[in-house]
Amino acid sequence: MMDPLEQLPKSDTIKLRERHIGQSCKLFYRSSPLKIVRGKGQYLYDERGEGYLDCINNVAHVGHCHPDVVRAGQEQMALLCTNNRFLHDNLVLCARRLASLLPDPLSVCFLVNSGSEANDLAVRLAEAHTKSTDIIIVDHAYHGHLTSMIDISPYKFNKPNGPGKKEHVHVAPCPDVYRGKYREEDYPGEDLGVKYADDVRKICAEVKAKGKGVQAFIAESLISCGGQILPPKNYFKNVYKHVREAGGVCIADEVQVGFGRVGTHMWAFQRYGTDVIPDIVTIGKPMGNGHPVAAVVTTLEIATSFKNTGIEYFNTYGGNPVSCAVANAVMEVIEREGLQQHALKVGNHLIEELEKLAQRHAIIGDVRGAGLFVGIELVKDRTKKLPATAEAKHVVSRMKEEKILISSEGPDNNIIKLKPPMVFSTENADQLVATLDKVLKELEDDVEEVSESMSAILKTGQSQIDRVNSTSGGSKSVLIKAK
Ligand SMILES: Cc1ncc(COP(=O)(O)O)c(C=O)c1O
Repeated sequence: MMDPLEQLPKSDTIKLRERHIGQSCKLFYRSSPLKIVRGKGQYLYDERGEGYLDCINNVAHVGHCHPDVVRAGQEQMALLCTNNRFLHDNLVLCARRLASLLPDPLSVCFLVNSGSEANDLAVRLAEAHTKSTDIIIVDHAYHGHLTSMIDISPYKFNKPNGPGKKEHVHVAPCPDVYRGKYREEDYPGEDLGVKYADDVRKICAEVKAKGKGVQAFIAESLISCGGQILPPKNYFKNVYKHVREAGGVCIADEVQVGFGRVGTHMWAFQRYGTDVIPDIVTIGKPMGNGHPVAAVVTTLEIATSFKNTGIEYFNTYGGNPVSCAVANAVMEVIEREGLQQHALKVGNHLIEELEKLAQRHAIIGDVRGAGLFVGIELVKDRTKKLPATAEAKHVVSRMKEEKILISSEGPDNNIIKLKPPMVFSTENADQLVATLDKVLKELEDDVEEVSESMSAILKTGQSQIDRVNSTSGGSKSVLIKAK
């Protein structure tokens, strides 16, 4: 067996990957990929020991390789790892803890291995409960890689060669008040939460008009792949009302945004008031801090409908003692280290500093966020809000050279997304903002240089036109070839 610290040369790793790993598994920084061999806290280290500040890894929630989480997994792995058909305390303690973090009546858990599995099971529960198949989703959403999840992920099925939308799937507009269907500036004083929710009401009415029932509405409580969107106040409250009136259930996908990331609350849906309680919540990524464990939490009523189908639910690895030991350790660390409160403090500071940065750089059209879930939308100009896609790509790659890992997101890939491990510090936030300031300044200087040389080219062109016109005595078109 290879010692984990003994490395293949990076070029060999690339060759082997190209040969043996499916080409659709894409790398970050494709032209110059990183080989990461170690992680600690909010830092990742490459094969030469070079450290990078990790601003994107929400999976390593309590910090890469947190010693308590590692120890919990190692100790349980040395003792027992089997399926959940045997009684085991780790499973029931994990379920009890999860339920204690969620509001009533969310009390029944199913342990699975990934966010995709959690969402797939959530849809099965919804179908068992409502006996309907028509599902409402939000545009640009991503809910996972299983076939059933691609069906409800416009982020995938709408790609140029994607499979397209299935008939039972209904897409509501993404509640983006900055650059979406209904924008703050176009509807001053109007409640955009109500307005966006009304589109969901119309979809429910259309489904019912066809003599069918609504199965579910599924959405992330803060929309990550769709572009770090914070749905407006009153959106979920009204959507849930319309969906329930149409007989459907409401699923909150908290796979990315759960476990205190938003700072004010443990779950992102709780930002929208105590009357917003989903019927099913799906949880994933941060739950295992890198170990594959995820969960579905629902009401006794819905779990009973699922049981009443008579089909047993068995999942070989879901809820095994090792995964549960890891998840229990993660929840313990979040509480003991006060990471939710920490995310609020650091997140508020980061957002404030980014707002100041936006005053200095016109390319920043919008800064939005909650806790350590932050988006910076780059636009070519603030009035037309044309997406600054190439600029966002450039910024991501320049920041990597500065040893800071960020990425871009959204339908136009122009939104810088930040969702660092929750141990991210105020100093890290300051370092990120200062470096971003420098990179944006360079970008602006480059644009200035280009526009100066363009105007020089245009001036030269004009003098050529003048020359041609004066020698030919008429107006002829002249093709100017700018180099
Ligand atoms: C919002 C959301 N839901 C579900 C998933 C699927 O999770 P997994 O990759 O663990 O299957 C993802 C993954 O990126 C996600 O972002």
